[in-house]
Amino acid sequence: MRGLILSGGKGTRLRPLTFTNAKQLVPVANKPVLFYGIEALIQAGITDIGIVVGDTKDEIRGAVGDGAAWGCQVTYIEQEAPLGLAHAVLTAEQFLKDAPFVMYLGDNLIKNGITALVKEFRERGPNAQILLAHVPNPNQFGVAELEDGRVVRLVEKPKQPKSDLALVGVYMFDSHVFDAARAIQPSSRGELEITDAIQRLVDEGLRVEPHVVDGWWKDMGKVEDLLEANRLILETFEQRIEGTVDAESRLEGKVVVDKGAQVIGSVIRGPAIIGSGAVIDHAYVGPYTSVGSGVRIIHSEIEHSIVLEGSAVESINDRIESSLIGRNVRIYKQARKPRAWRFNIGDNSEVGVH
Ligand code: G1P
Repeated sequence: MRGLILSGGKGTRLRPLTFTNAKQLVPVANKPVLFYGIEALIQAGITDIGIVVGDTKDEIRGAVGDGAAWGCQVTYIEQEAPLGLAHAVLTAEQFLKDAPFVMYLGDNLIKNGITALVKEFRERGPNAQILLAHVPNPNQFGVAELEDGRVVRLVEKPKQPKSDLALVGVYMFDSHVFDAARAIQPSSRGELEITDAIQRLVDEGLRVEPHVVDGWWKDMGKVEDLLEANRLILETFEQRIEGTVDAESRLEGKVVVDKGAQVIGSVIRGPAIIGSGAVIDHAYVGPYTSVGSGVRIIHSEIEHSIVLEGSAVESINDRIESSLIGRNVRIYKQARKPRAWRFNIGDNSEVGVH
């Protein structure tokens, strides 16, 4: 069985971060979200993986390479434009051939992985298996309507959802999906929707089996989703200290301090991760915070946040929370007069002051 990871798309809802970075490479607990998907496939015994890429192909290729780092084989498949998930499947038809496959959206995270689900698909052999999750905001997803445990209708982002069951971004198909994808028309957002292709399979009387996932599932739609995913992943960590922590510092709970990181006169309250080469100096890093490599948190307090590599937070009086700070950002206190806020921030940024 082969795996297909979709890693195109523009990630507009995660701007400004995605102006300079592929959405699938945004780190959750200091690891690109895409890597969790690769690892989930490998754990399920799938080592022949195609990655569909778009505008950000060079960056994705740079981060993943040929898959040797994971002991898998990666083939890149270029999609000429982001014309939808069903279009991506058609683009990958040559790679997938006639064998059943797993399609995994590169910005999705599933707590319990997909090993049991792939096994179930292999054993039962339906034409498609879809994963569903109860969500509070179904209008932002593909939504499934079930009757007596069978799929009757699938609608992409319905205004008035008929259920709270969202389509999770992991699908299993046999080769019938190609004809279904060829038979549908673009949606109102101009994309060939995989949701419509699956509806087509249902309409043709093919076997589409639903499976409601237990445990959490997240896709990286917005900043809040990213912070939540970060929280969920950090919670699964155990304490591991490989950097240096001086006697004056205190680590509480599940804290990871990577190699080469330094904690000086500070309090770190987990779950939290401090990346390699980061410096936490007379600072407080609170629960649910991921500090990237080479970051400096000096005389400041931060919690429930993600700080990407190379950034610095220095001498900020008030605690920073629920923040996503990009790469090589500097937030610092200025002594110069007049006393004022001074910003130099990119497009689509958001700054909340009190
Ligand atoms: C896509 C699918 C949608 C699914 C979601 C899961 O949405 O179209 O049906 O529920 O992924 O992540 P998109 O991310 O394209 O808005």
